[in-house]
Formats: sequence, structure tokens, C-alpha cells
Amino acid sequence: MILITGAAGYIGSITSYHFLKNNYKVIGIDNISTGNARALEVLNKFDNFKFYEGNFGNLELLEQIVTNNKIDFVVHFAANTSVFESTQNPLKYHDNNVSNMINLLKICEKYDINNFIFSSSAATYGEPKTNELITEDTPKNPINPYGLTKLIGEYILNDLSNAKKEFNFIALRYFNVAGASLIAPLGQFSKSSLLIKIAAECAANKRDKMYLYGNDYNTPDGTCVRDYIHVDDLAIAHIEALKYLKNQKTSQAFNVGYSKGTSVKEVIDIMKKISGNDFKVEMADRRTGDPSSLVASNKKITSLTDWKYSNDNLELICKSAYEWELKI
Ligand SMILES: NC(=O)c1ccc[n+]([C@@H]2O[C@H](COP(=O)([O-])OP(=O)(O)OC[C@H]3O[C@@H](n4cnc5c(N)ncnc54)[C@H](O)[C@@H]3O)[C@@H](O)[C@H]2O)c1
Repeated sequence: MILITGAAGYIGSITSYHFLKNNYKVIGIDNISTGNARALEVLNKFDNFKFYEGNFGNLELLEQIVTNNKIDFVVHFAANTSVFESTQNPLKYHDNNVSNMINLLKICEKYDINNFIFSSSAATYGEPKTNELITEDTPKNPINPYGLTKLIGEYILNDLSNAKKEFNFIALRYFNVAGASLIAPLGQFSKSSLLIKIAAECAANKRDKMYLYGNDYNTPDGTCVRDYIHVDDLAIAHIEALKYLKNQKTSQAFNVGYSKGTSVKEVIDIMKKISGNDFKVEMADRRTGDPSSLVASNKKITSLTDWKYSNDNLELICKSAYEWELKI
């Protein structure tokens, strides 16, 4: 049985759906702070899904969950996720992303739950000094509290796995997650500062304009380059990570992206094309802390696990995000 924290959130709900479709038993926990009850309506249709509403750092609630259910794996999505907010309210981020995670791990330690998959982030790398593909060994220098909390999470997991040999974890460092599911009626409900979500909102006439921050970067068209990964492919990476943990019993960190960079300008052009809406884009100054290029090397995850992806097509990603926006 798998305990999934953040099961009502964007990535957590879609990954839960994939696990449920593959006949895994899933226990979800979420306090619905940024998650959405409509996502739970979809998951509740599965007999193999059970949900607890509450804080994933609440020891009493966790004890209740693990004593009533035989949990073998934890997939930990729940977190606060806004880079900007983390710079304004760092303690909120350290409290939720670090202190609460320590409580979750105390329960794992106490009840011998020895397999843990963690939502880490490309934000752990900060601003790499290279325009090459980022490997798992690229130095990690987070430049905001959010990225730091993700790196601290990885360090804590590493310490625990060193101290307790049976405990293994996989940190999945997601690059830019985007789009709505192509198999589940699920997508991103919450407000977000993510480019494809914002462009889709403009395309669906939910915003009157968007900003393009900087066009003088050292990239082919001068705008920042990112590695956008479709959320279904990311969800499947968790299933493969779980199989890896089960079979190999070894801890790892894996980048999860397509190893393919797309510029901000290209994303906007594609969104305009697929929606037929020439929405307004205003030029703005560079934002501090935006690296020019962040593209994953996915060699490690593709060589060590059976992860295969099928949606590495930006038109398809943008179309799914746009159509989702029209629906909600
Ligand atoms: N979206 C991305 O591009 C991206 C990139 C890298 C990493 N991540 C990581 O992936 C994970 C999921 O992100 P998302 O985009 O789905 O965000 P999200 O906000 O949609 O999901 C987070 C979920 O966790 C829940 N939650 C937060 N704190 C909680 C608490 N204390 N107790 C119980 N539930 C709590 C929220 O209600 C929400 O449902 C996060 O850990 C995030 O840092 C996301």
C-alpha cells in the first residue's frame, strides 16, 4: 500500500490516478491548502483509494493512518511550492517542507516504512554555471528558500538511509512540469506562476496579458530556456521509481525531464498557435534568479529504470493545458 501526501494537488492527484489505474492501493493525505476537492472526487471513484484530510506532519494523524493501513511506500508530494512566496515567508517553507517532513520520516522510521519517493526539484541546482545539460552531479546551490528546503529534504533522506540500512529513497528532481493529464480528468486547479499555466489562462481569456521577463539572455532567441515535461510522463516516472526501489533497494536521485530545451518565446508562440488567440504579451525586465537555461540530462533515470516517456511534444503539452483551462 502506498501513502501519497499531497494527493489533492496537481501532480499528486495525477500520479495517484496512475497508481490506482495500475491497481496499486493508495492512501491519500492532504489538507486541501492548495489542493482541490474536485481532484478528490475523481480519485474517490476508485475502490483502491482511501483519503485522510489533514496535515501530513501531524504525528497523531500519521500514527492513526499507519496503524490502520499496512503502508509499504510513501510518495511525498505535499509542500509549499511558490518560489516567490518562499522569499517573502521563508519560515512557512522551512516549517512545512522541512519540519513536517521530519515528522513524516519519524513515523516511517518508527513503523519500518522503508521506501520513500520524494518530490525534489530542479530548483536545488540554483543557477548552474553551465549551459550544458544538467546531470545529477551538477553542483547544487539553491538561490531561494523553496529550492533550499528541497535540498535539505534530500540531505535528511540521505542521512536517514545512511543510519538505517533498510531505508531507501528516491529523490525525483522535476524540471518544468506542465499540461493536463491525457488519461485522467485532472490538471492544475490552483493558481500558479508557471509559464504554461499562465499562457494557457491568457489563451482562454482568463487573463488579459502576460509578461515576458527578459529577451537578452545568452540563448538562441534571447529568452530563457527550460525543459518542460508533461505531467503524465512525470507521474509514470514515480511508478518506475517505486519498482526500482522494490527491486534494487538502493537510494538514488534522478532528474526528470526530456533533455530538451524550449524558450519562453517558443512556448508563447505555440500557445497562440494552438488556441488561435494572439493574446497580449508585455516585455519586462529580467527577474533576479532566473537562470538562462535549465535543461535536464535524463540519462541516469532512463538507463537505471524502465521509465519511458511519450508526450515530449510541446504542442501537445500546451494543447492539454489550454483545453484544461477551458474546462475549469
Ligand atoms: N509543479 C512543478 O513544476 C514542480 C517542479 C518541481 C517540484 N515540484 C514539487 O512537486 C510537488 C507537488 O507540486 P504541485 O505542483 O502538485 O503543487 P500543489 O500545490 O498542486 O500540490 C501540493 C499539495 O500538497 C498539499 N499540502 C501542502 N502542505 C500540506 C500539509 N502540511 N499537509 C497536507 N497536505 C499539504 C496541498 O494542499 C496540495 O494539494 C511539490 O513537492 C513541489 O515542490 C513541482
